Amino acid sequence: MGKLLCAILILCSMVMAMPAVHGIAESPKDVEKWFESLNHAKEKVTKLHFYFHDIQNGNNPTSITVAQANNSLSSPTFFGLINMVDNPLTEGPKLPSKQLGRAQGMFGASSMEEQSVFMNINLFFTDGEFNGSTLALLGRNSIFHEYREMSIVGGSGVFRLARGIATAKTYSINTNLGDAVVEYHVIAIC
Ligand SMILES: *[C@@H]1O[C@H](CO)[C@@H](O)[C@H](O)[C@H]1NC(C)=O
Ligand SMILES: *[C@@H]1O[C@H](CO)[C@@H](O)[C@H](O)[C@H]1NC(C)=O
Repeated sequence: MGKLLCAILILCSMVMAMPAVHGIAESPKDVEKWFESLNHAKEKVTKLHFYFHDIQNGNNPTSITVAQANNSLSSPTFFGLINMVDNPLTEGPKLPSKQLGRAQGMFGASSMEEQSVFMNINLFFTDGEFNGSTLALLGRNSIFHEYREMSIVGGSGVFRLARGIATAKTYSINTNLGDAVVEYHVIAIC
C-alpha cells in the first residue's frame, strides 16, 4: 500500500513538469521514454488564436446533422440535434484565409432551457510547428452568450498531456441558415 502510494506520488510529480517538443506517431517505447523525461523538463504555455467556420449550407458543408430526436426541430432549443463537423480553422475571419487546421468531432443541442450545445471536438492543427498535433476540446457552449469558456482536456503531438481553456466568441452568424464564424482563443499548458 505504501509502495503504491509512493509510486502514485512520483507519477503525479512527473506529470507536473512537461517537456517541450517531440515527434508524432512514436512507438510505445519512445512514448515511455518521453514520459520518464518529464521531471527534467519545464511546462510551456501556448496561446492560439483562430476562427472556426461552421458551414452547414452551400455546396461543401463541413457541418452536417447526423442525428436528431423526432421532436428536435420543433423544440425551441433544438434539443437532441447532433452535428458531425470537419470545420476549417483559419487565421482570419473570412474564407479563404490561411488554414491553420480543422475542428473534427461533434456538437449537439444539449439544453432544454436555452440554445446551448455540448462540444466534443479535436482541434487538428495542420500548419507550422503544430502540424499533426491535436488538442481535445470539451465543453458547454451557450451559443448566444458573448463569451463561452470550454475545457482543453488533453492533446497529442506537441500538445501531449495538455490542459487549458478555450474561449469562444461569435464573429458572425446567419440566423436563417445557421452558418457561423466563431473566434477562438486557446491557452494551454503542456
Ligand atoms: C416520437 O418518438 C416517441 C418515442 O419513440 C414516440 O412515442 C412518438 O410517438 C414520436 N412522435 C412522433 C411525432 O413521431
Ligand atoms: C504537415 O504535415 C504533413 C504530414 O507530415 C505534410 O504532408 C504537410 O506538408 C505539412 N504541412 C505544412 C504546412 O507544413
